[in-house]
Amino acid sequence: MLQALFDNNEHWASGKLADDPDYFSRLSALQHPEFLWIGCSDSRVPANVITGLEPGEVFVHRNVANLVHRGDLNLLSVLEFAVESLCVKHIIVCGHYGCGGVRAAMDGCRHGVIDHWLQPIRDVSEANADALDLVPDLEARHRRLCELSVQSQVENLARTPIIQSAWRRGAPLRIHGWIYALDDGRLRDLNCSRHG
Ligand code: CO
Repeated sequence: MLQALFDNNEHWASGKLADDPDYFSRLSALQHPEFLWIGCSDSRVPANVITGLEPGEVFVHRNVANLVHRGDLNLLSVLEFAVESLCVKHIIVCGHYGCGGVRAAMDGCRHGVIDHWLQPIRDVSEANADALDLVPDLEARHRRLCELSVQSQVENLARTPIIQSAWRRGAPLRIHGWIYALDDGRLRDLNCSRHG
């Protein structure tokens, strides 16, 4: 079963070399991506595949439900490197409809450690309770919460010292909130972009 992955890899690598003999030597020399992607770990939302970006074109951080916890050393390390060393131009926080993390935050059940991780989604849900209560259909409410959470993560990112200092020194850096639909494969811009 695992051998198939090595076979796929051999097929991919030799195909790349056939198209461009310098492909790997060029790529191994440096990376200069213009995008940082912060997305969900969900296997159905692979950043490079759905955006058509090649290796070297997008720096990627993924976690359950694409959250920006301000004390998350993993995310902050990725963010600092992307902003200060790679000088990315765009940071994309991409959520997706049908997100299991958002569902788990909504269902009122105890799941374990993940409940602590998902707390920011419950906070967003509580902060928007009046508007969410007006959405009669549970699935539509889930979709709305997926969108609201992405917007909230964009705000969280914008308030980090890393982003604030990048904007203070005039870095041409924009943060965007997008959402992906599993059922049609389309990305949508939530129009909550921020810049310095
Ligand atoms: Co998800």
